[in-house]
Amino acid sequence: MAGNYWTDMFLTYNNIRQIFIWPLGGEPDKRIYSLVTHKMRVAMLRNLLRLSAVVLFLGMILFMATAVLEDLSGNFQQQRLDFESTFASFNNETGADHFIVPNIIHLIRFSQPEFSFIDYICIQAAFRNHRPDHFYIHTNEAGRKFRGKYWELIERDLELRSRIRILPLEPPSEIFGQEIPPDLRLFHGGDIARIRTIMKYGGIYLDNDVYVIKNLDKYRKYEIAINWDKDQFLGTQVIIANRRARFLAMWLDSYREYHPELWYYNAGERPTTEILYRYPELVHRVKVQFGADISLSLNLYVEKKFDWRPLDTIHLMINHRSYMDPYYNETPSFDENVIKTYPYPFGEMAREMVAASGMNNFINAKK
Ligand SMILES: *[C@@H]1O[C@H](CO)[C@@H](O)[C@H](O)[C@H]1NC(C)=O
Repeated sequence: MAGNYWTDMFLTYNNIRQIFIWPLGGEPDKRIYSLVTHKMRVAMLRNLLRLSAVVLFLGMILFMATAVLEDLSGNFQQQRLDFESTFASFNNETGADHFIVPNIIHLIRFSQPEFSFIDYICIQAAFRNHRPDHFYIHTNEAGRKFRGKYWELIERDLELRSRIRILPLEPPSEIFGQEIPPDLRLFHGGDIARIRTIMKYGGIYLDNDVYVIKNLDKYRKYEIAINWDKDQFLGTQVIIANRRARFLAMWLDSYREYHPELWYYNAGERPTTEILYRYPELVHRVKVQFGADISLSLNLYVEKKFDWRPLDTIHLMINHRSYMDPYYNETPSFDENVIKTYPYPFGEMAREMVAASGMNNFINAKK
């Protein structure tokens, strides 16, 4: 075959020469002419096929080489991430130049099998305004099942439901050998569970009554972004962190001195005074934007002109309304009907999610 190839090439070369010489050397022989052109065509076609085979072959080699290179650079990036993950000299102001926090929203539901209207609004706001890849709902419910009209509405929202994973988690009953009193397990246990959960997966932890207003990606390039308002202890309603964030391990470790009788000592006061006062560079400090301050939340129920839209998230403080909100008795609870005419900013926030989720279509379809 190889021999033929070169003979053909040679013939083709001679034939071409003949064609160019003919005009100088007089009448071409018609029989030779047709024979030669036929031979040429066959030869050219054969050469063309060979050429494409060679090009295809080279293309494949190039493709394979790129894949191998990509793999190598992927490994390299992973190594870089591992290296980075010690976070030594990490810059808490500029952050990384790529996302280092997975796009997972974590919710923790201890002994709360029923979804409320507020739960529904908040998960819809997180879904629609932030767009996580997944929600991980950590719960101690037997069979990992929730219930109630609003959970059923989530079950029917297939786009949202397909992103939700429900994972088993028991409220911790002790920490470093110290008992967490049973009546505090859902609260102090929840504080500890959120630290451990983020240390396990990384991601975005949200309290169940945090309303997400804007996309949170800008915080996903930091080792950890956490609320720490001026002259306050840190706020734990929103935690956006890489699982290896140095502060998380130190925060958890600070529970070695656990004071169950002090409500916010281990969750907020101690990590602020014992860790952050000394090492503020461990966190990307978020002031105001997470809407953690009580005075901001209160506006949602009393101040008609309050503009909540510039914030990234806001804590609804829904369980504190009964003593915070002077108009509480007029609307002690919210649902899709009550909020139709509710005149304060929370009404607008809730109506937006009722409309965006199309929940009324599901409700009407059911009737
Ligand atoms: C970053 O760390 C420095 C201390 O090195 C601190 O003063 C500053 O407030 C921190 N910035 C943010 C955005 O947290």
